[in-house]
Amino acid sequence: MSETLCFDMYGTLCDTSSVREALAAELAVPEALVAELDATWRSEQLQYSYQTALMDEYRPFWDVTADALAYALDQWDVEADEPTRERVLDAYNHLDPFPAAVETLTRLSEAGHTVTVLSNGNPEMLETLAGNAGLATHLDEIISADEVSTFKPAPAVYENAAERTGRDVGDCRLVSGNAWDVAGAGAAGLETAWVNRGNDPFERVGVAPSLTVRSLSGVADELA
Ligand code: LAC
Repeated sequence: MSETLCFDMYGTLCDTSSVREALAAELAVPEALVAELDATWRSEQLQYSYQTALMDEYRPFWDVTADALAYALDQWDVEADEPTRERVLDAYNHLDPFPAAVETLTRLSEAGHTVTVLSNGNPEMLETLAGNAGLATHLDEIISADEVSTFKPAPAVYENAAERTGRDVGDCRLVSGNAWDVAGAGAAGLETAWVNRGNDPFERVGVAPSLTVRSLSGVADELA
């Protein structure tokens, strides 16, 4: 049966750890510190998005990402002036797509599914990245949490994807490498596919995935 497939962007279609290249080039810090900065930046970005959603203080994900970078630099005591921070932040416009991202979208689209991005990113950053990563022409829609002024895993974000593509939530499937996202989509009534690249245990909050695979190609193998 054809579904609306909602792909998460950061950590699913595109690899957020590709920011390490910009961190290393711009900050001239040792490799071990680059890894710490990357990890702190990403975890604070997610934490800030959960907090702003709960506090009902929505701000575009680009701004959340900039603040999370500032926190990571403070935490690790790394000095960087404003132009340097902006160049590091710009890495979010140039993340590498995961291997098989294009091929997976193409196979699923040819199989008759509606293929979308459903992401916390604001529209401008999503469109820029989708263009730069070569994904844009393989997508039917880019649906941003910005349309409902909150962030995943709030149910309104997943429900909006169903509404935007004219389908019931039960005919939509979130595909994500982020377990918290899968748990949230399941709680909102969507089918899910967890791209569990790290063979991690599933989170203990939310709803377990309807399907678990190890890579993006696994999604196409199961659903195309
Ligand atoms: C996304 C991030 C937050 O929604 O994973 O694309």
